[in-house]
Amino acid sequence: MNTQLAQDACRLPELLEKVLDASLDYLGSIDDRPPATGFVRNDPLSLPDDGLGTERTLDLFAQRYGRTMPASNGPRFWGFVTGGTTPAALVGDWLTSVFDLNLTSVANSPAPNIEFEAIQLLRELFGLPAAFTGSFVTGATMANFAGLAIGREWIARQFGKSIALDGLHAVPPISVLSGEAHSSIFKVLALLGLGRNSLRTVATLPGDREAVDVEALRRALAQLDDRPCIVVANTGTVNTGDFDDLRAIADLKSRYRFWLHVDAAFGGFAACSPGYRHLLDGVDAADSLTIDAHKWLNVPYDSAMIFTRHRDLQVAVFQNSAAYLGAIAEPPDFLHLSPENSRRLRALPAWFGLMAYGRAGYREIVERNCALARLLGERIRASATFRLLAPVRLNVVCFALAGETDSDRVREFLARVRDDGQAFLTPTTFQGEAGIRAAFSNWRTQEKDIEIGWRTMNHNR
Ligand SMILES: Cc1ncc(COP(=O)(O)O)c(C=O)c1O
Repeated sequence: MNTQLAQDACRLPELLEKVLDASLDYLGSIDDRPPATGFVRNDPLSLPDDGLGTERTLDLFAQRYGRTMPASNGPRFWGFVTGGTTPAALVGDWLTSVFDLNLTSVANSPAPNIEFEAIQLLRELFGLPAAFTGSFVTGATMANFAGLAIGREWIARQFGKSIALDGLHAVPPISVLSGEAHSSIFKVLALLGLGRNSLRTVATLPGDREAVDVEALRRALAQLDDRPCIVVANTGTVNTGDFDDLRAIADLKSRYRFWLHVDAAFGGFAACSPGYRHLLDGVDAADSLTIDAHKWLNVPYDSAMIFTRHRDLQVAVFQNSAAYLGAIAEPPDFLHLSPENSRRLRALPAWFGLMAYGRAGYREIVERNCALARLLGERIRASATFRLLAPVRLNVVCFALAGETDSDRVREFLARVRDDGQAFLTPTTFQGEAGIRAAFSNWRTQEKDIEIGWRTMNHNR
């Protein structure tokens, strides 16, 4: 055995103690670290002939990157829709690497049992009926990919064909209808060979709404003359956290043929709170459903779930049959259900979080984050410096700099806020206006963080 490797193996307890110390140092300073830091320009490294061993590598890492590691999993990173890692999720993630299990098969470990259990717990958290089966993927983009890939196969079946077997030329061009689709949907359409241009954007409701106008959707469906299509419903839009009316969209299914994919990457967590749950009324009618775990479930990247009521079609798309892997059983192994074959036991951090904090834990995180978003929204509404662009519907605050329409000025403002090291927010465009988003989905964020963020926003304006 290589000497460094052999020495590391003997000193594992000591090395893990060192990592523990480094981790506690970082986590203990999370409140004081800047939430975001820029790209680090270091002298290039070259591959050592003889390795350094883990201890010296850890020192090298600390010296090259330690001080610049931001607190993007801390309480004042309000860009994108970013969760943090809860203590339980960290424990689950650490153990995932300790066990290093491949999820492919029930034949050699209980890893699939753990994923089945996590999916069952998540179904309970989201109030989904048992008809939905689920599996973990790396993020909402891949969940959207899986959902639309299954939808594409459903369309082919309407023509008595299979795209999984015969490719896209087996069927006429497929239309996809959506209101305010997330950018990842366009990427997915490119990946699936449907093309970004296959998405027909349907009008949204007037005013400051991003929810689809269901009557406009009905008209678009009618124009297809009974040709089956895919409808992507959006529950939790990135700019304003708006929700399509799923119940009304589901009702259209009795008159028009479409696959209903619901992108509920973060909006799905509305189900955790009795006050917001109604926003997902009708979700039972979804044929496929995306929910991200590395957002509001507060597990580390990369983690999301694809749920569907059509596992047979899912297997038709994702099956990976080979003599050495065994036959497709019931339930099918996870390698027959998602884009990856070999993959880590991604469900374990989620399993730990769900068991450690339960229904009440997630309800509290969701409700606190939404209350904090409202608090920032109220500050903005009352201020002469900033201007609210839309009401705060869930956990996202969308606003502008008062009297400023130039997006470069907005970016400069956000760079000043970032470099001040107290809060991080990201730019957007909302209905043609240069805007800013603050999204709250981290379990650590408290009222004091809104005070700090508000102060730095005003100071840098
Ligand atoms: C509604 C929605 N869909 C999809 C995505 C893509 O998620 P991911 O970056 O996890 O792939 C996001 C990310 O913000 C989102 O908000």
